[in-house]
Amino acid sequence: MFKNFKILDEKDKRLRLISKEVTFPLSKEEKRTIKDVMEYLRYSQIEKYAKKYNLRAGWGMSAIQIGIQKRWFVIVEEQEDGSFKNYFFANPKIISNSEEEIYVEQGEGCLSVNREVPGIVLRYARVTVEAYDMDGNKFTMRLREDLAVCVQHEIDHLNGILFIDKIDKKNPYKNADKYRPI
Ligand code: NI
Repeated sequence: MFKNFKILDEKDKRLRLISKEVTFPLSKEEKRTIKDVMEYLRYSQIEKYAKKYNLRAGWGMSAIQIGIQKRWFVIVEEQEDGSFKNYFFANPKIISNSEEEIYVEQGEGCLSVNREVPGIVLRYARVTVEAYDMDGNKFTMRLREDLAVCVQHEIDHLNGILFIDKIDKKNPYKNADKYRPI
């Protein structure tokens, strides 16, 4: 059933590690963990569960955020009809990106950063990502806007980078007029 993961906090040095390539096939245990993370993210986005279990709403989670130093992450996106779509990426690579850069106007969030950190985090508006699914099949996916931001945020986690690293400390809204907010 629902597994209430203990998520590493930004001060935890493990979040700064470079995660290691995923090897296939995934073990049963790894698949179980991935499904549990999907479930966790889904619950976190449903108000009654979020309240009941005291969860912060999150779209994405990388393995390292639960202490697993592997290059995979999960994204759970609520659809217009109220259902949830699960995405899994292993060993992702951005193979192309738009020239246009955007930022999340209200600021990015992260389950490992338990505070509001305002400021601009520039992301490509569109990216094409090559990755592997849970069965080890390679796929290519083109992503835009929110999902593109999310994927770039998660890929950063695999490289030990947090969104707060990318905000200009002295001038968090530097060049805001040059980029499109979403
Ligand atoms: Ni994050």
